[in-house]
Amino acid sequence: MSLKLERADVHRFRALVGRRLGLEFDDSKLEYLADVLEQRLKTSDCSGLEAYAHCIGDNGREEWRALAEQLTINETYFFRYWDHFRAFFERVLEERVRVRRPAQKLRILSAGCASGEEAYSLAILIREHLPDYAAFDIKILGVDVNLSMLEKAGRALYSPWSLRTTPEHLRQRYFHATGRDFQLDAAVAESVDFEEANLVEDDAKLWRPETYDLVFCRNVTMYFAPEVTRAVVDRIARALVPGGFLFLGHAETLRGVSQDFHLCHTHDTFYYQRRSGAEIVANGDGGAGAWAPSRAAPAAELDANDSTWVDVIHRASERIALLAQHSPHLHASSKERPGAQHDSLRQAWDLRAAIGMLEKERFGEALDLLKALPVDARLDPDTLLLRAVVLTNSGQLAEAEQVCKELLLLDELNAGAHYLMALCMEHAGDLGAALEHDRTAAYLEDGFAMPHLHMGMIAGRTGESSQARAELGKALRLLPREDASRILLFGGGFGREALTELCRSLVKKCKGAP
Ligand SMILES: C[S@@+](CC[C@H](N)C(=O)[O-])C[C@H]1O[C@@H](n2cnc3c(N)ncnc32)[C@H](O)[C@@H]1O
Repeated sequence: MSLKLERADVHRFRALVGRRLGLEFDDSKLEYLADVLEQRLKTSDCSGLEAYAHCIGDNGREEWRALAEQLTINETYFFRYWDHFRAFFERVLEERVRVRRPAQKLRILSAGCASGEEAYSLAILIREHLPDYAAFDIKILGVDVNLSMLEKAGRALYSPWSLRTTPEHLRQRYFHATGRDFQLDAAVAESVDFEEANLVEDDAKLWRPETYDLVFCRNVTMYFAPEVTRAVVDRIARALVPGGFLFLGHAETLRGVSQDFHLCHTHDTFYYQRRSGAEIVANGDGGAGAWAPSRAAPAAELDANDSTWVDVIHRASERIALLAQHSPHLHASSKERPGAQHDSLRQAWDLRAAIGMLEKERFGEALDLLKALPVDARLDPDTLLLRAVVLTNSGQLAEAEQVCKELLLLDELNAGAHYLMALCMEHAGDLGAALEHDRTAAYLEDGFAMPHLHMGMIAGRTGESSQARAELGKALRLLPREDASRILLFGGGFGREALTELCRSLVKKCKGAP
């Protein structure tokens, strides 16, 4: 770290950047922030942080521009995540055009557009897939806080690297070579507007209610603090028309962020659709609900060959009893949940008692305890999830399915409920639906090992060895870091080691298969 700067100065600078640009930097980036701050102090002729903080106060627009240029990550390219663009032209565009045909207008926002490739990709695909696009009043707006990126977008001149995943026929139709670079077709370039905007600010014009049919905000909120993400997504939700669509980056989900959207899964990818006003659950719970035991269950004898996972859970003995001496406690899931205040002490105590019964495999008593809760607590997402877990463990899969459905109505992004639904669907013989729920659970919680283990088992049983190996491999990578509470709830009573052993033996079996 710089000699001239105190650690406290850098912390203060980090807080200022977080407030103004939304960007979150963890401690490993303090050195980098110190370098940036030192460099900016030199350039700005400020005597120290006090003067600099004053200079980047209300009138520091130019300085903030310089900081945004240094501190933002601007990686982007044409047709990044082709699955998203397929979902766009095969579903989203078609649906929005149908709805908007009477008014003949479409409004699209690329929020955090960087050098424009995302917004231009959408403009190209509209020309390709909407034959009467000229009859529509279409506005595509790209906004970003980094002015130099917007200037680059305005030039619409790109390196071959920016076109690295552009299909050849689109490259030929919409670009012409200029030296080593490629110039975008002028008509396409003119069809997109770019503006400087900071997503953290509540700009009344940018966020006019019910304006956009579609918002792409990909690989932007991953750099924000959770509370900034929530505020930005809230603005996006308000600015989308009901039924409008939101695409986030692959590493970003709305779990624990917003309940204003339905999750869509088509074209091998996930995205979101704005609910109608009447549908929005006022005090929804974005978390999966989790309980942490003090240690995971020890290994149990497992034989999963040719069995459904539910069968395996039921065949296993001694498993849950071994957990009994450990008293789990309620805690919020990894992301802070909106509306988490509903976890009343009384309810937490009662749920603990029910978990104790689950651990002892006294499923009937656990269910009785849950039934005896006051109505509000019974309908709480945490309670519903626990009920579904107990029902699954006790083999009451039809009832578990009903409870999961109830829970998913309250919290569509509940990864645990999707995973339990996968077990119920497998039990009901609907492997397609089981896999769909597993994929959703894995998407919503990228560290959730069980859906991968389950998908691997299904693939192994249906003879898809390479798919099975891939999923079991993911489960094996995730299990060492898997949340202990999730192992307790969803591991069918097996501990981390037993589940790891199971994965290994299944992988071996797959290797023997063609
Ligand atoms: C990694 S790029 C993503 C580009 C494009 N959306 C994509 O996925 O290919 C992230 C962009 O978000 C912009 N950004 C970061 N914070 C922002 C803020 N507070 N307001 C507006 N844009 C911001 C950055 O300047 C950067 O260009």
